[in-house]
Amino acid sequence: MSASVTPEPINRFSYTAALKDGMKSMTPTQPAAMAPLVASSIFSRDAVSEAVTTQVMALEDVSVFYGDYEAVRNVDLEFGHREITALIGPSGCGKSTLLRSLNRMNDLIPGARVAGKVTYHGVDIYGSDVDAIELRRRVGMVFQKPNPFPKSIYDNIAYGPRVLRMPKSQIPDIVERSLRQAALWDEVKDKLKESGLALSGGQQQRLCIARCIAVQPDVILMDEPCASLDPIATSKIEDLMKQLADEFTIIIVTHNMQQAARVSDRTAFFTAELDEQGVRHGRLVEYAVTNKIFTAPADERTEAYVSGRFG
Ligand SMILES: Nc1ncnc2c1ncn2[C@@H]1O[C@H](COP(=O)(O)OP(=O)(O)OP(=O)(O)O)[C@@H](O)[C@H]1O
Ligand SMILES: [Mg+2]
Repeated sequence: MSASVTPEPINRFSYTAALKDGMKSMTPTQPAAMAPLVASSIFSRDAVSEAVTTQVMALEDVSVFYGDYEAVRNVDLEFGHREITALIGPSGCGKSTLLRSLNRMNDLIPGARVAGKVTYHGVDIYGSDVDAIELRRRVGMVFQKPNPFPKSIYDNIAYGPRVLRMPKSQIPDIVERSLRQAALWDEVKDKLKESGLALSGGQQQRLCIARCIAVQPDVILMDEPCASLDPIATSKIEDLMKQLADEFTIIIVTHNMQQAARVSDRTAFFTAELDEQGVRHGRLVEYAVTNKIFTAPADERTEAYVSGRFG
């Protein structure tokens, strides 16, 4: 059992209350004397304990449905405080679906439904007294394709704090701090009034990370944040993620095995399994410290995937 850090309640004293009005079928096997799958030097964050010690979010027997279709089935998973957790697995195994269940983004998809329990600091986020908007402030999201608003760089960052009615006098400081934290300040400080859309793809993604940070989240969800970026921009985002983990809990979906190995503390491997009727369901196969997933996985499906023999 892991301890939980003391949270502010998300169902009381909400910043945004005012806004509501406005707006394994296979037997696990231990692969025999495997050659290393990735160079051991790649792991930059392998200092975490074997089990999660301080839990921020957890999934208990979570299934996610689109109408009658069960896209993800019976997942148990926990996310550690200020850790980076990578979700990996072949296309269609439900990574994005599961990520969206963590801040109730699935609420916005007609027909989508979550069964089981998703907790944030022990609170059931699907409880009737939880303010989904406040939850999404605490559990922010960065998408695959950078999506700046068609506004100035400054206004992209100021948007969230203004909506939350943070004091006007504090907004310039919040904008600067957020852009600094997202390692973008030096590149944009002289053109804050220019459009966010005029930035390069890598800069736009850092702008979106800055926008997410500006509302002081606790957890940052990232769905393939580097998928549209070149290797240099990708490397900047990876460095940034490692810095951000000093302050935030990060959960990242990635298809890039090297990236998962480089940035994450823990890795969850999912696959899509066929049931008796031939319907595919996303299943969690294995969850462990990243180094173990890549060098000594317990399940042969994980080994096949991380070594590039499957998926
Ligand atoms: N809005 C939706 N409506 C209906 N079915 C959906 C919806 N979104 C996803 N699905 C289905 O749920 C399953 C899981 O999809 P999801 O996008 O979560 O997979 P993924 O692991 O993120 O894939 P990828 O790696 O390609 O992004 C797939 O079968 C997909 O077709
Ligand atoms: Mg996806």
